[in-house]
Amino acid sequence: MQDIARMWDDKFSRDGYFYGFEPNVFIESQTNLLAPKGNVLCLGEGEGRNAVYLADKGFDVTALDASPIGMTKALMMAEKRGVSFKAELLDLEHWEPKQSYNAVVSSYLHLEEPLRTKAFRQAFETLKTDGYFIGEFFSINQIPRESGGPKKPSLLYTLASLESIFDIQGAKIIYLEECDVPLDEGNGHQGDALVIRVIIQKT
Ligand SMILES: C[S@@+](CC[C@H](N)C(=O)[O-])C[C@H]1O[C@@H](n2cnc3c(N)ncnc32)[C@H](O)[C@@H]1O
Repeated sequence: MQDIARMWDDKFSRDGYFYGFEPNVFIESQTNLLAPKGNVLCLGEGEGRNAVYLADKGFDVTALDASPIGMTKALMMAEKRGVSFKAELLDLEHWEPKQSYNAVVSSYLHLEEPLRTKAFRQAFETLKTDGYFIGEFFSINQIPRESGGPKKPSLLYTLASLESIFDIQGAKIIYLEECDVPLDEGNGHQGDALVIRVIIQKT
């Protein structure tokens, strides 16, 4: 916990919001899938851009992250916008979900295996029937690009790795693509990037 929290606290302790104030474009574009006023878990939510956006749209939002500074800034952004959400400060290594959700959203949560499979499957298991897991992550093919993302191959994603994580009972792949997209997300993500976008539904 401490290493991850320290690393992200360090990034988030700079002035401003590292990935900006606007929600991830893919997550924003899929908001229509979410049951109105449903509850949504934002996994690895950082400084809160998706959580604040979804709370403002009327969803009952819980944001989970290991970084105390990230979560504090997320709550500050929410207060400024006049919205609220629940913040859960914890390392996914020690996560024991206690609630179910209509949706789980996650942008750029880059975890090593076996934690990645454990956490994504746990997140999937929290979904109510018909609920969605919606995510955007950097592809392994992003490595040579300078528009964002980790440089360590084991932290990056492939289509096959996501297929394998969600090769479980009740998981229906609605969308799974590698896309070349222009990113304009704060100082952290700028320029054309190779990302993997995924939508899984619980049947
Ligand atoms: C690249 S940032 C993305 C933040 C946010 N989702 C966004 O797109 O603006 C990755 C986030 O994942 C969180 N994270 C990484 N490993 C984690 C872990 N093991 N447990 C909880 N959070 C973790 C970090 O603290 C950081 O906030």
